[in-house]
Amino acid sequence: MKLVLLLSGENLELAREEALAVAETKSYKQDKNVLTLETENDLRRLAFTRIILQQLFSCKTKDLEKQAQNFNWQEVYKENFCVRIKGKTELTEKSLASIIWRKLTNPRVDLENPKTNIHFLFTEKNVHCGLLLYENKEKFRERRPHLREGFHPTSMQPKLARALVNLSGIKKGQTILDPFCGTGGILIEAGLIGCKLKGNDIDPNMLELTKKNLKHFKLKAELIQKDALLLNTKADAIVTDLPYGKGSYHNISLETLYRRFLEKSCSMLKPNKRLVAVFPKKIRAKKLKIIKELESYVHSSLTRHIIIAKK
Ligand SMILES: C[S@@+](CC[C@H](N)C(=O)[O-])C[C@H]1O[C@@H](n2cnc3c(N)ncnc32)[C@H](O)[C@@H]1O
Repeated sequence: MKLVLLLSGENLELAREEALAVAETKSYKQDKNVLTLETENDLRRLAFTRIILQQLFSCKTKDLEKQAQNFNWQEVYKENFCVRIKGKTELTEKSLASIIWRKLTNPRVDLENPKTNIHFLFTEKNVHCGLLLYENKEKFRERRPHLREGFHPTSMQPKLARALVNLSGIKKGQTILDPFCGTGGILIEAGLIGCKLKGNDIDPNMLELTKKNLKHFKLKAELIQKDALLLNTKADAIVTDLPYGKGSYHNISLETLYRRFLEKSCSMLKPNKRLVAVFPKKIRAKKLKIIKELESYVHSSLTRHIIIAKK
């Protein structure tokens, strides 16, 4: 199915790559914060996508009225309809609705619970029209780290954690491993989309916090307490946020920990599966094939560097 996605503006590159990973496609068109692609995959687990439409047409804004006049609205119309606009335009929902109204044989409007929910997404020069399939109402904010029983300040925001899980391309029922799981922020997001969970941390106190958090969300995980460099396990994806500062609990520098961990992850990944790892700075990964590098700005002294890699 041809889809139009309205991406969240916070980080367009991350939003696009997350969508492409879950859609399992490399072919797309991007027009500012609007992404068009084709997939049969379920995209409702995306974190950085606000709205998903079934594409009806896209055109230059100046050609919209003509397009709307020529479009066969009857073919997509069910019971009643409603028009919604997103983005800047001088056109109104009412004026577009009246064009559509005139093209229907027995039109009815329902603004509360429309069976035909027509959206027009305006970018700078273009407009993308489609039927609403999904509006993202995921309650990431309710899962913010400081609201959890097992809290630690190093914990990652759930929206980013979900995006990282998605970037790994992991599917429901497959096993995800977080070798530096901290309080379990990544594991929670993976568990909520139906992945099997393996978490590891060198610090037993962190694992206790993870246990509490997983229990709250009724999730189960295999939890291991080891130095991540000594792990001996396999997974369909490794998704992790490495330690940034002191306390790597290892008599080595952070740089060495990062390098050794990247080498180690090769032996834990099943063939063709992905590693998504977050570092506080740009990192070179030998032995692994880098698929993509992304950045996520946190504050003036921290930008997270995300690498997506495979063996
Ligand atoms: C940035 S935190 C992870 C935060 C996690 N994503 C969350 O949302 O809570 C890094 C974690 O790595 C753990 N750690 C540090 N050195 C380690 C090592 N050598 N092996 C395993 N875990 C380690 C720390 O105890 C800490 O919990």
